[in-house]
Order: sequence, then structure tokens, then C-alpha cells
Amino acid sequence: MATKICCIGAGYVGGPTMAMIALKCPQIEVVVVDINEQRIAAWNSDKLPIYEPGLDEVVKVARGRNLFFSTDVTKHIAEADIVFVSVNTPTKTRGVGAGKAADLTYWEGAARVIASVSKSSKIIVEKSTVPVKTADAIEKVLRRNCKDPNVQFEILSNPEFLAEGTAIEDLTAPDRVLIGGKDTESGRAAIATLASVYAHWVPRERILCTNLWSAELSKLTANAMLAQRISSVNSISALCEATGADVQQVAKSIGTDSRIGPKFLNASVGFGGSCFQKDILNLVYICESVGLQTVADYWHQVILMNDYQKQRFVERVISAMFNTISKKKIAIYGFAFKKDTGDTRETPAIDVCRGLMADGARVCVYDPQVEEQQVYQDLGTEKFEWDHPSPRSPPIAKTAIAIAPDHMEAARDAHAICVLTEWDEFKSYDYQAIYDSMVKPAFVFDGRNILDHAKLREIGFIVYAIGKPLDPFLQKQY
Ligand code: NAI
Repeated sequence: MATKICCIGAGYVGGPTMAMIALKCPQIEVVVVDINEQRIAAWNSDKLPIYEPGLDEVVKVARGRNLFFSTDVTKHIAEADIVFVSVNTPTKTRGVGAGKAADLTYWEGAARVIASVSKSSKIIVEKSTVPVKTADAIEKVLRRNCKDPNVQFEILSNPEFLAEGTAIEDLTAPDRVLIGGKDTESGRAAIATLASVYAHWVPRERILCTNLWSAELSKLTANAMLAQRISSVNSISALCEATGADVQQVAKSIGTDSRIGPKFLNASVGFGGSCFQKDILNLVYICESVGLQTVADYWHQVILMNDYQKQRFVERVISAMFNTISKKKIAIYGFAFKKDTGDTRETPAIDVCRGLMADGARVCVYDPQVEEQQVYQDLGTEKFEWDHPSPRSPPIAKTAIAIAPDHMEAARDAHAICVLTEWDEFKSYDYQAIYDSMVKPAFVFDGRNILDHAKLREIGFIVYAIGKPLDPFLQKQY
């Protein structure tokens, strides 16, 4: 029976996951530690570092009772029976496997700290998404670096399947909890201990136990399959536009087939988020490493299709607007990679805005949750600085980006609106008032297919929607 849990990494996964465990298991002390002092301070404040519906309420109940956030990493690791490792595992940017392989620097760093401070045996839980076989490497690091021969480590893989924006819902009633461990006596005991934590609120039949490698690979596979569905329907959206078919009608028609199912069939400007691309690239790298080039190529297409969709969207905007968007103001509705989150990691909005700015447009971004500074950081990177190397001419990103405090301000005097995140509030705006404030002809490019297109056309907008029959106005451009 576990009495103290420590989680290394107070991010989008570590924070909400541990808050839920603390909420459901009041008798277990849960401490989330991080080297990022600002993040820990925010977790201990009224303004949590991440926006997630329902999270504030959960944290409010458990924080100070049996949920704690701390920067004292070594103390809490040393005291814990179970250590979750939920650190970031980004794509490598340098060296062997750069651009594909997972960068396990943070993971290995965490393992070294665990090894050096542990004075009692512990269960180490891989919460981060890691390449298959990582447990093997981590075990070696732990064993070789721990000075106390009496300390034993049992490694479990317990990948997280929550989705940002619905994290609390997903954690409250998960489709399944997956625990992978060794088929040894101590391995089975560790699985049972972790399963008993989740069993406080998750029905036993939803707690799946597998071997370590299956659990590790399941997480990569789940993300690859989810992203593949989006790329598949997005590929069909391009064909719909070319033929006059309607991708929403096609999605509904195929989704009613119980073998296919209705979820994850929304065509859009493309998927984003910190996980899908990185995990597929990781999968591709693993396949290449074991000589499965055809398998690697197959999964790589999912990413290429996503890039194509974003590029296609930008090209549509440009060609619809008479092949020139130079100096035109374009309102960007939504910058987060999906609704109900402020997370912008790998958001399609970055590539779309960059594409539009590269053609000379001025973008004016409005997002209900994304901080102004974040948009500048995402768009104002050196990627654009080299376009204007002269110190006297300001970098393109600084002059081409504006952040609006509300949707009306974003659209005022704009030539077009691009909807890039599916925020619910976008559906209920007064589009007549928006239209009246814009330059004519006024365009709407609905990258999420969430608006009432017929009504927008009635108002006078020229509308482009992903995978929908094209307006006659747009057809003429081709
Ligand atoms: P994140 O970047 O939000 O959080 C990771 C945290 O770990 C950071 O705050 C960082 O300061 C901390 N950290 C790194 N090294 C540390 C160390 N040695 N000691 C203490 N703290 C350390 O990352 P996020 O989004 O929470 O993801 C974590 C893992 O979970 C990744 O492997 C990701 O692939 C996986 N995952 C993410 C999901 C998501 O929706 N964001 C969903 C499911 C899995």
C-alpha cells in the first residue's frame, strides 16, 4: 500500500494527473516537484500555470490537504514509495536522430537524481511518453548509480491518455488505465500496488495490465492512430473541394459504420499539440532503427499530410484574396492548438500565420486563453529574423503581428478572418457587426468548420470551409 507519491514534472500531465490521484485517494500524500520555480509558484497560487476546465476545483479541494507542489525535488523523491516521472520528452534537435528521435535528457536526468537520493526501494513509473524499451535503459541508469545495494527499483510503464482541454473529464472516467510491468514476482507486486491506487475510482476491468514494452508501444501507437485519422479525413477534404463532395457528409456517412466510428473525423486546418507530431516522429525513428523502412514511411505520411493541409489552407487564403495579401490585415480567431486550452505547442496557427506573414500579410490574433507574450514568442522567433538581417529594419514578425483584446478589435478593418481554433464562443458572435467593420469583400476562412456558413454568406461574406463545396467566387480563382 503506497503512502507517499512523488511526481517529477509539474506540467500538463504531472499537474492534473496527480491532482486527480490526490483528490480520489485522500490517505495518500502526493507531492509534485519541478525544477521550474515559476511553475511551482503558479501551482501554489490562485492562477494555475495551465488552463484546463475543472482543474481549479480539483486543486482547490486537495491542495494543502494531501496534494503539494514543491521545488524540493530530492527530499520528496527520497521519501516516496512511488515516483512518477512526467518530464518532457521532446524531439531531439541535435545529433544522432535529430528531428525524429525522442530527447531523453530530462528523463535520464530525473533517473540519475532518483538513483542518487534513494535510501528505500521504490516503484518508478514512466508517465512520460517514451520510446519502446526506455524502461531497460532507465533501469540501467538507476541500478548503476544507486550506491545503496539494498535499494530496489521496479519500473512500470503507465502512459497517460488524457487529452488537453478535457483532462479532468478524461482522468475522472478514463477509457482505460494501462500499466506495463515485468512478469516477475516483484514486477507483479508493483503492478498490483499501482493498480490499487487507480482502483480508488477506476473500475478494475478498465485497468489493463501488459508487459513493459507493450505499454510503452501502446502510447505511441494510440497517438499515431489518432493523428492518422485526422490526416486521413483531411486528405479526403482536399478531394471533396476538388469534386463538390462535402467532407462533413462523408464523415457522417462513414462514421455511422460501427467498425469506423464517428469520433476524430473532423476535417480541419491540421492537428497540433505537443504530442502527435513528436510521437509519430519517434515511432518513425524507432522503425528506421530496426530496419523497418516501409513501416516508417507509412507513418511519416501522416505528418506530411498534416503539413500539406496547413500549406493548402494558406494557399487558399492567398489565391482567394486575388493572389495578394501583402499589407492586408487578417484576423486570426484562435491560436491554441485546440479549444479549452491555452497550449500553443505545435499549433497549426503558427504555421498558418507564418505562411500568411511570409506573403506580406499583417495578422491580428485573438484567442480567449493564449497569453499575448506566447504568440510573440511562437511567431517572433529567429525563423523570421533572417528575412530582415539589417539591424535598422525591424524583424518582420514584430511589425506583422498584433494581438487583439477581443474578437471585434481583431476583425476591425481586416480583409479576412481565419478561424484556426474551434472555441465555442466563435460560434455566437454577431457576424453582421463584424462584417460591417471589415474591408470588402470580406472573407471568412473557417479552418475548423464550426461557423454557420449559410448565414455568413447571407450577410455578405465570401466563405471558405475545409472540404466543403467552394463558393462560386472562390472557384473563379482556379
Ligand atoms: P511539460 O513540458 O508541460 O512538463 C514537464 C515538466 O517537467 C516541466 O515543467 C519541466 O520543468 C519538468 N522537468 C524536466 N526535467 C525535470 C527534472 N529533472 N526534475 C524536475 N522537473 C523536471 O510536459 P507535459 O505536456 O506535461 O508532458 C510530459 C510528458 O507526458 C511528455 O512525455 C508527453 O509526451 C507526455 N504526455 C503529454 C500529454 C499532453 O497532453 N501534454 C498527454 C499524454 C502524455
